Amino acid sequence: MSIAYLNGDYLPLAEARISPLDRGFLFGDGIYEVIPYYSGKSVGLMPHIIRMINGLAAIEIKCTKTAEEWKTLLDDLIAKNSDMGENLGVYVHISRGTDVKRYHAYPENVEPTIFCFAFGIKDPEPVDRTAVTQYSMISTEDLRWQRCHIKSTALLGNVIHFQEGYSSGHDEALLFNAKGELTEGSSCNAFIVKDGVVITPTQDNQILPGITRRIILDSLKADGSLKVEERIVTMDEVREADELWITSSSKEIAPVTKLDGKPVGNGEVGEVWQAAFKIYTASKFDF
Ligand code: PDD
Repeated sequence: MSIAYLNGDYLPLAEARISPLDRGFLFGDGIYEVIPYYSGKSVGLMPHIIRMINGLAAIEIKCTKTAEEWKTLLDDLIAKNSDMGENLGVYVHISRGTDVKRYHAYPENVEPTIFCFAFGIKDPEPVDRTAVTQYSMISTEDLRWQRCHIKSTALLGNVIHFQEGYSSGHDEALLFNAKGELTEGSSCNAFIVKDGVVITPTQDNQILPGITRRIILDSLKADGSLKVEERIVTMDEVREADELWITSSSKEIAPVTKLDGKPVGNGEVGEVWQAAFKIYTASKFDF
């Protein structure tokens, strides 16, 4: 049974309780993170914590824990759940807290609700283009809000887009803004490859500043063998790409070989994916 953390206490996940007046429940008023640990080693722990602290500041949730205190809490939770498997993810959720009424304005003198639990995650995929899991996607217009850079627990927009892909038998939905520019996936960032160049949309309010995205960009730039660009990516470029990847803490770098029922590139996992995933795998624990 997963041991959860709730407001200072460790307890079995099934026993964790919050009030229905919690603003996370009523308004989706909170920030969350998902952080992977493989054999006890985290990927991007500090960047995840820093993004979370920035998210809390962006929506004015006052949480006094320092980055170091967060690190200790999350490492402890993983250690307490070591019987759950070799590879674990930790989910962290901080809502604005529990009010005495339902009222939109931020309440004064309310303590944030802090809830974390660990769960088993898949083994990393093999660095082998003939054996890795391949993904299929649909494309659709990005109809979420204008603050996608904030990792808000209010995920209905993402959930609806994910479901569009899922209910039509696909793994994910690839999102384009009203100008036909690529933003991201419903629960992941996106990259294309054209003529050996790795390209991903610029970081702005239309996409989450993905930690996996950041690790990929930094590790590829440090390695230097692949050319990398952060810029606007048009729908035509996606349709004509040699490769399409989606990235997240749970998927790492996942190759997409079908988009809207058509093959991406030659329909096989690309050589650039293999080269990039090798570089990422070799350095992911350094972040
Ligand atoms: N999803 N974009 C969106 C909309 C996401 O929800 C996620 C992550 C990402 C990738 O971010 P990162 O590399 O930091 O995981 C991009 C998480 C895993 C989730 O909601 O479960």
